[in-house]
Amino acid sequence: MAARRVSSPVLAAQSPASQAAAHRAEPRRTEPSRTLQPGIATLAIRGGRSACPATGALISPIVQSTTYLHEAVGTHKGHTYSRASNPTVTALEDALASLESNPKSNPDSQAHTTAFATGMAAISALFLSVLKAGDHAILGSVLYGGTVRLVEQILRPLNINVTFVDTREARNVERAITRRTKLVFIETPANPTLILTDVAAIARITRAKKILLAVDNTFLTPVILRPLDLGADISVYSTTKYIEGHNVTVGGALTTADAVLSDRFRLIRKTVGSIQAPFEAWLTLKGLKTLPLRLRQHCENAQQIAEFLEAHPAVSHVWYPGLKSFAQHDLALRQHAPSSKTSKPLHGGIIAFEVRGGLQAGTKLMNAVRLCSLAENLGATETLITHPVTMTHGAVPKAQRDATGITDGLIRLSAGLEDAADIIADLAQALEISQAPARTVTARTTMRTTRALTTTTRRARTHTPPIPAVA
Ligand SMILES: Cc1ncc(COP(=O)(O)O)c(C=O)c1O
Repeated sequence: MAARRVSSPVLAAQSPASQAAAHRAEPRRTEPSRTLQPGIATLAIRGGRSACPATGALISPIVQSTTYLHEAVGTHKGHTYSRASNPTVTALEDALASLESNPKSNPDSQAHTTAFATGMAAISALFLSVLKAGDHAILGSVLYGGTVRLVEQILRPLNINVTFVDTREARNVERAITRRTKLVFIETPANPTLILTDVAAIARITRAKKILLAVDNTFLTPVILRPLDLGADISVYSTTKYIEGHNVTVGGALTTADAVLSDRFRLIRKTVGSIQAPFEAWLTLKGLKTLPLRLRQHCENAQQIAEFLEAHPAVSHVWYPGLKSFAQHDLALRQHAPSSKTSKPLHGGIIAFEVRGGLQAGTKLMNAVRLCSLAENLGATETLITHPVTMTHGAVPKAQRDATGITDGLIRLSAGLEDAADIIADLAQALEISQAPARTVTARTTMRTTRALTTTTRRARTHTPPIPAVA
């Protein structure tokens, strides 16, 4: 039974484990084309995939097995135990790697992806892979709250030194480098204020100093930004967000063109036991196919919503890279890719905004939405509205929040795939309520938010264990 394989070297991108396994099961291959450079939609559906060698199934089956038969001592088909690797997880890794394998910019190396149980498992594995006691890392000053909690509560007690810097200016990174600096880690756009970092400018510095650069590319995905092409060493993903995209799994991934680094990620994953589960990997493979299509619509909806919010008298400020008023709009135009050769650049599906009346009015708005859901997570089909200070960024010390614009009144909106007009109508009615006199809305819910905020701030300040509300 010969498995049919796609013909481009990029499409056929496969990890060593699957190459070894596939080689035995698949005596006949089609000759790779040297000329075809597939588009991102083709890659999302076909990249790194092959039909099941055992059954011919076109869609990768879920291999729900802990263990694998050894044909003889020392002889097996590439998988031994599902904490180390699993065929369905490998299929996801091959598919994700194909999105960032670029024979044009990087002819010698193939990207390798390692998939994890969550985005935080991926980020933890990255830090554990490249940092040891006494080492120093430079991190962007605005990051997902869970990453900050990892730094404050786990890395610092292990004597790993961290400096948070404003990476909007590349020279801030240069100035923070010490003899012990091993890693620079950034998010662009950063969660939740959406500040951008010029990845190529930072990469020029890290390359010259032989320091690793990791980019958390969860917000844009390889459809809009390919960090490895811009000189970064590692792309980091919470696949929980756009990549799976339907609010049904948590997952994470690290992609690198450095095979030694990739082996290190796998060693850490196997040792701490943080591999993706097969069913989650399978669902993520399914979600990935429509990523370019979905992301384009997320971005179009976000642009319309951002323009509506910006024009609304109850809104005091909107941050969205696709707005002309966005301070780094020029960088966004330069750095963010169009979804196809003919379309305009895309700027992601996340918007941050503040309403007039600060926290109190913002609380009223978040309690008044009907179609939008007040919930954590982002990047999936449902429009989600989030209060970063009491939800996703409660673990960020208040001083750092204040210094970086994560204000008590900041609202984050993840534009879903509902009709933009319906999302806008919902926001319009909620904005009206947000500006109504205090007694016409529930004073009790506003008080509840204020109380949660006080608790969050106190906990972040004293570094007590994370509050349960923080994802
Ligand atoms: C930018 C970013 N990176 C990483 C993570 C962590 O991912 P996960 O929730 O899958 O662990 C998140 C979660 O919101 C995030 O927003």
